[in-house]
Amino acid sequence: MALAAAVLLLLPGILFTAMAATPYPHGRGGDPLLGASKKYEGSSDLVDLRYHMGPVLSAAPLRLYVLWYGRWDPAHQAPVRDFLLSISDPSPPRPSVADWWATAALYADQTLANVTRRVALAGEAADESASLGRSLSRLDIQRVLASTVAAGHLPADTRGGAYLVLTAPGVGVQDFCRAVCGFHYFTFPSLVGHTLPYAGGRCADVCAYPFALPSYMSRSGMAALRPPNGDAGVDGMVSVIAHELAELATNPLINAWYAGEDPTAPTEIADLCEGVYGTGGGGGYAGKVAVDKQGRSWNVNGRKGRKFLVQWLWSPEAKACVGPNASD
Ligand SMILES: *[C@@H]1O[C@H](CO)[C@@H](O)[C@H](O)[C@H]1NC(C)=O
Repeated sequence: MALAAAVLLLLPGILFTAMAATPYPHGRGGDPLLGASKKYEGSSDLVDLRYHMGPVLSAAPLRLYVLWYGRWDPAHQAPVRDFLLSISDPSPPRPSVADWWATAALYADQTLANVTRRVALAGEAADESASLGRSLSRLDIQRVLASTVAAGHLPADTRGGAYLVLTAPGVGVQDFCRAVCGFHYFTFPSLVGHTLPYAGGRCADVCAYPFALPSYMSRSGMAALRPPNGDAGVDGMVSVIAHELAELATNPLINAWYAGEDPTAPTEIADLCEGVYGTGGGGGYAGKVAVDKQGRSWNVNGRKGRKFLVQWLWSPEAKACVGPNASD
C-alpha cells in the first residue's frame, strides 16, 4: 500500500490500512469493491486499475538498499536477504520468486520502460541502537534514512535506488502494528535532500497472516499455515516486503499504476490480491499452495533451496490475480 493512502482493505476479514502521508488519515471504511476483492479473480470488470502517467522503477538493476533498524537476529535477516536476492535469480526451480516478479515486470510507463526484472541488493546498513527510538512516526522513517545517508552508511542513489527500512521486533511504527502491515512512499527533498522511493514493513500478529491469524479468525476454526522458514514473524515480513516491493516498483511516486480516483487512497497491484497465495484463494482462504514434509506452506522457490510464501499480483494482461504456482 502506498503511504499516501488510508485505504481499508477488508480482506480475510482483517483491516489493512495504508498509512497516510498527510497528517489527516481519512479511512475509507467498508468499501464493497475491496471487500469482495477475492471474487474478482477472473472477473475484472470491477477493477479500474489505471496508469497515471508517472514513472515505474525501470532502471536495471533496481538497486535495493536495506536499513536494518533496531536489533536484528542474523538468523532472521538471512531469509529476507535471500528473498531479495531471489527476485532476479533464474536458477531456482519453478515456480520461482523470479517467476512471481514477472507479473510486476508486465507494467510499463509512458516511455515504454517496464518495471525491471533485475533487482540487486546494493547495500545494507544497520541502526542497531534504534537511534530515533522504538516508536517511529511516519516522518521518522524518512529522518532515519536521511541520517543514514548523511553519515555515509548508505548512498543517496537517485538513479535506480530504492530503500527498505526494516524494523526489528520491538520497534513500532506509527499506525503500523495496529492497522498497517507495510508501506511505501518516497522521501522529501526537504528532509532527505532527494526524492528516494522507499518501503518498510513489520508486524507479528495480523501482519503475519496467513502464518498467524487474528483471534476472531482462529475462533472461527481456521488454522494458521506453518511458515516456510520456520518463523511467522520473518516469513510474514517477507510476504509484506513482497507486497510493498511490487507496489513500489509499479507506483513509486504514487502517480503510475493504481486503482481508484483518489491518489491519497490508491489501491495498488498487490492490494488487489491481498490474501491470495494460490488458485482459489480469497475470502480468508489462502488458496492452493504447496506443503512440505514438515507441514510448512510455500508457493515459490528461492535461492539456496529456500521456499517462500508470497501473495499473488494483479496482472494487467490477465486482468486477474496471477501467481506462478497456479494450478489451473
Ligand atoms: C513490458 O510491458 C508491456 C506493456 O505492459 C508488456 O506487454 C510486456 O510484456 C512487458 N515486457 C516484459 C518483459 O514483461
